[in-house]
Amino acid sequence: MAEALQRLILDSLQSGDFINDTRSLILPDKGQPAECLEDQITILGALNSLSSREMVKYDTHDVSSHVLTPEGAQIVKDGSHEARVWSALSLKGQGAPITPVQLKGIVGDEASKVGQGRAFKNGWIGKEGNGLIKLVPEIQDATQVELQEVASTGSLKAGEKILADLRKRKLIVLKKGQWFTVHKGSQFSTSTAKPETDLTADMLTSGSWKTATYKKYNFEAEGIPTTGGALHPLLKVREEIRNIFLEMGFAEMPTQSFVESGFWCFDALFVPQQHPARDLQDTFYLSDPKQSLDPEPAYYQRVSETHEYGGFGSVGYRAPWSHEESRKLLLRTHTTASSAHMLYKLAAKYDGFKPAKLFSIDRVFRNETMDATHLAEFHQVEGVVADRDLTLADLIGFMRVFFKKMGIEKVRFKPAYNPYTEPSLEIFAFHPMLNRWVEVGNSGMFRPEMLEPMGFPKDVRVHGWGLSLERPTMIRYGINNIRTLVGHKVSIEGIERSPAVMF
Ligand code: PHE
Repeated sequence: MAEALQRLILDSLQSGDFINDTRSLILPDKGQPAECLEDQITILGALNSLSSREMVKYDTHDVSSHVLTPEGAQIVKDGSHEARVWSALSLKGQGAPITPVQLKGIVGDEASKVGQGRAFKNGWIGKEGNGLIKLVPEIQDATQVELQEVASTGSLKAGEKILADLRKRKLIVLKKGQWFTVHKGSQFSTSTAKPETDLTADMLTSGSWKTATYKKYNFEAEGIPTTGGALHPLLKVREEIRNIFLEMGFAEMPTQSFVESGFWCFDALFVPQQHPARDLQDTFYLSDPKQSLDPEPAYYQRVSETHEYGGFGSVGYRAPWSHEESRKLLLRTHTTASSAHMLYKLAAKYDGFKPAKLFSIDRVFRNETMDATHLAEFHQVEGVVADRDLTLADLIGFMRVFFKKMGIEKVRFKPAYNPYTEPSLEIFAFHPMLNRWVEVGNSGMFRPEMLEPMGFPKDVRVHGWGLSLERPTMIRYGINNIRTLVGHKVSIEGIERSPAVMF
């Protein structure tokens, strides 16, 4: 059918140059003009298929047209209710009257109910005793004739008054529809052969490519999403930051030990054993095993003495030292625990001190109340630089270059407090979208109470800075709830569709 209809349209265009009104087309399967709405919908399908190949162009005209309801269609087939009532009866004087109950049995509930009244009104039937009888030998079933006309033309020559009556009787409804004016397109031909979408080896060898028609490329079409793995935004930003560190000559620190001891996470950094960060409310402690092995005794001795009694120009905390507190196992609360291991190794180098630039990006754990911007675990980015005679200006300079490479040009520093650094600086960046300064990290020069027990020469300074990986990732990808980034509410589809590179 579709094929025959396309051919009909093309042939009509060939012979008549254009089709003024598609309602005048004689449908191949109907043998009648395509006057009803359904016919035009079929024609539209054919037109769309042809116009996608630029074989035709068409204009659309809106019309409203009448179509039969199922009840109307029934009447076209079997006659109106009143006609069916009339034909069920005997003509007066020629047979016995029929009771209403009997009539119901013959024509059904609906027809006997609606049809009797109309047949009476038309003067077609009358009463005889308790029964009903035909009064006229012949009738004209006007309703059936009218509905037949509506079915084939969508309208009635007799006019709106009768149409309105048929609508009221729910035999027809008004439907909006369309018809079309059709012209030849730029690729017009009477052949309905499908245009080629690909040039094949066969076409080249047979030479059929010379005469074939080709489907145009649709440059507006969206590509098919590729299947395969995708990187999580955090991993992408991690890679970017890692590259910045590598460009700046930093080496990556090993950070695989999520479990640390109180000694390496806090004591080695000169964080007092009574510091609130070490409380259960802030740190996750292990219950099994509970205790770490002892660190190297001489270093342990120097650290505990510095805490308790001072040294290296410090008076210490003057609080009793707890061996147990130091050996508690915990989930590291910052990657500075890993930095402490590395700095200790660096200080203990047998062939003397060598400057170092180290970084790490890995996971840390804090016993936080979780909300839109806090989870109990996140990633820290940390940089550490050790050299002789470094100054605070070196630290600030490093951070300016680092943040600039991350796309953050405007940075500001504010004095802050850290148990292990002095001076300490909080880092603020200007957020153009929020139009305000936001805190992006923390930094400082590590204290001599931390560095000298490790064995660093007195003139060696170490500075460091840390930031979260989640904060810049959320800003980059316009995410305002951390749960869309990490955890079970992350949409895999969102991960797959997130841009590979942000500019
Ligand atoms: N460890 C600090 C934090 O958790 C970051 C930091 C690293 C600060 C190194 C100073 C030096 O916020």
